[in-house]
Amino acid sequence: MYLKDIKLTNFRNYEEQVLAFDEGFNFLVGNNAQGKTNLVEAIYMLSAGRSFRTFMDSELVRWGSGTLYIKGTIAADEGEKAIEIAMRGNNKKIKVNGVLLEKRGDLFGKFISVIFSPEELKLVKEGPSYRRKFMDQGITQVKPSYYYLLINYKKVLFQRNSLLREWLSGKADADVLTVWDRQLAGYGARMVYERYRFVRTLSALSKLVHSRITNGEEDLEIKYQSCVDIKEDMDPEEIRQQFVQKLESARARDIKTGVTSFGPHREDLVVLINGTDARKFGSQGQQRTAALSMKLSEIELLKSETGECPVLLLDDVMSELDPSRQQYILGNLTDVQTFITCTHITGIMKKSCPKGKVFHVDSGIITTEEQ
Ligand SMILES: Nc1ncnc2c1ncn2[C@@H]1O[C@H](COP(=O)(O)OP(=O)(O)OP(=O)(O)O)[C@@H](O)[C@H]1O
Ligand SMILES: [Mg+2]
Repeated sequence: MYLKDIKLTNFRNYEEQVLAFDEGFNFLVGNNAQGKTNLVEAIYMLSAGRSFRTFMDSELVRWGSGTLYIKGTIAADEGEKAIEIAMRGNNKKIKVNGVLLEKRGDLFGKFISVIFSPEELKLVKEGPSYRRKFMDQGITQVKPSYYYLLINYKKVLFQRNSLLREWLSGKADADVLTVWDRQLAGYGARMVYERYRFVRTLSALSKLVHSRITNGEEDLEIKYQSCVDIKEDMDPEEIRQQFVQKLESARARDIKTGVTSFGPHREDLVVLINGTDARKFGSQGQQRTAALSMKLSEIELLKSETGECPVLLLDDVMSELDPSRQQYILGNLTDVQTFITCTHITGIMKKSCPKGKVFHVDSGIITTEEQ
């Protein structure tokens, strides 16, 4: 799929902007603070219904204005679709082909995108929450119902933790804890099942991508560090049973500490380069390249699982990668619509993408030029 055009009204520093995009490479070029990331953010909004930069929707509305509107036309195998996001104050409405969605989650899967920004460059280097978010976002796009699983799991976890904190003051009820445990195991087991399947496919794909990017010098392996002892072809019910047992054996410790010590909220991915933990021992460049391989593999995974090719959003990452990595991106993403922000068009970009479209971003006004 690809984004054909976008219309922005009072979004960030854009007052009124209509743009038609190329099916291949789109370069968003401009100095700092001109609105490049703002445009990427608007595109991302069409796929997630919210920003990747802030949870505060009100920040997205152009200063001095009380309303915001984004409309994008998506071309997909199944035909064209229009996605609209309108905001008045804090009231956000999302429509697909003119039909109002009940919940933001109903938008997932309609316009599939993969974002790669300096945040994602930290995927390998930083703490486990980055890698859990990576799994959860990827799975949600393949299987939108996973989003509700995640929300329910978090709600029950919150309730269970509140109960644990009340325990020491003698107000808590053991039967209630057992009810939360059952619910937590139900949602958690299905999350583990989906994460396991996601990582298994991703690991195989990223091994190939990483080997290509590093000219066969590095072997990349991604291992799912699950909260249960997971085995090939385990079904969700087996995982659930194990989950219940583990919660029971952790109960005394959890009561003492007042937190749930076990579950998908504590899981991680281990990234190995040539058999060594890249988070602990990899160089900055190796960690970034591994993150790049993982994100590029996510595209392949989404493509094979949904039958649609996602759109790639590269914000501020080209300048962070060495010329050979840049060359790889530009040379290998020929069938993926790609948006790239940069301060200037480099020689590599000109050489590798003679057909890309260039957008000059200047204080919230964009002008176009065919490259
Ligand atoms: N709600 C808003 N209303 C009006 N302007 C805004 C709003 N939010 C942000 N801006 C403006 O947008 C600018 C930042 O734009 P953006 O983050 O897209 O820059 P950029 O071109 O990506 O720059 P860089 O190269 O530094 O990443 C800010 O300097 C700010 O002035
Ligand atoms: Mg930016």
